[in-house]
Amino acid sequence: MEQLLSQINTYKKEIEAATAADEKQVEEFRIKYLGTKGIVKIIMGEMKNVAAENKKEAGQLLNDFKLFVEEKYDQLKGSTSNIKPQTSNLDLSLPGDELPIGSRHPVTLMRNRIVSIFQRLGFAVAEGPEIEDDWHNFGALNLPEHHPARDMQDTFYIQQNPDWVLRTHTSNVQIREMEKGKLPIRLIMPGRVYRNETVSARSHCFFHQVEGLYIDENVSFADLKQTLYFFVKEMYGKDVKVRFRPSYFPFTEPSAEMDVSCFICGGSGCNICKKTGWVEILGCGMVHPNVLSNCNIDPERYTGFAFGMGIERPAMLKYGINDIRLFSENDVRFLKQFTSAI
Ligand code: DAH
Repeated sequence: MEQLLSQINTYKKEIEAATAADEKQVEEFRIKYLGTKGIVKIIMGEMKNVAAENKKEAGQLLNDFKLFVEEKYDQLKGSTSNIKPQTSNLDLSLPGDELPIGSRHPVTLMRNRIVSIFQRLGFAVAEGPEIEDDWHNFGALNLPEHHPARDMQDTFYIQQNPDWVLRTHTSNVQIREMEKGKLPIRLIMPGRVYRNETVSARSHCFFHQVEGLYIDENVSFADLKQTLYFFVKEMYGKDVKVRFRPSYFPFTEPSAEMDVSCFICGGSGCNICKKTGWVEILGCGMVHPNVLSNCNIDPERYTGFAFGMGIERPAMLKYGINDIRLFSENDVRFLKQFTSAI
């Protein structure tokens, strides 16, 4: 019995100190102590030499020893499975997997470019509804019912309510902002608009515009021109020439359209400018007194200018896109080309 006890204590010390660096060493431990010819088995065999009166105590001792060995075995197994990744082929110094970078839509890129130029002049961004009532899309903008200029914009009407339309331009946001009655107003208003047009490479039934509005005391046509000159220089470069042509919009008086010298051919004439040397960029003018009155702004005290431009066309010119339908087809092969575009 004495001898058995000292044997067990010697093994316990040995086992306590045992370590395993990998699975192979854990297996060696198992074979040595818990295997069919292992130490636990051998010591169990000693039972037959123990005197009858000590058998109970010895049985207890051996069972405890077996549990002790098994616990140590579990512990070694656990510790090697934790360190396993380091001993496998994992190389922590390798660079990570590259995540695919998404890209902004070219219309968004152009919108942001236009908006940020005006933001630098102190214009704030405003947005309005795409489903609009007749008053905000037409009436308040000096286009009463049966006004011939309504035909210029092929309107989508909403079946459920004859008073509702899909807005044909972003000018509705002008009205909504002026109605709020907070002056002065200096806003840039981007958004999507809808027109009932045959879809082709050059025109679509929905597209995007950016509207501008500046209302204060003593705002003049000179302010309009200077603001737009700044825009053109920032957008198309300082060498681009600008011209204003008299035009007509019901909501402005006087009205003008602004052209820039063709930035593709430099003004000598190409397909883009249809050999004229000029590209039309936007419509603009001084806000019509009727429009101010419609929004409860006193036209005797306040004046203002407004302008509106499309986004798709400048985007097509900048990125060399020859079909407007590409913008709305969600073809990844098209969209991913703008990953590195600004
Ligand atoms: N709403 C016009 C259009 O859709 C564009 C426009 C022209 C907006 C002149 C304006 C403006 O604010 O003053 O064609």
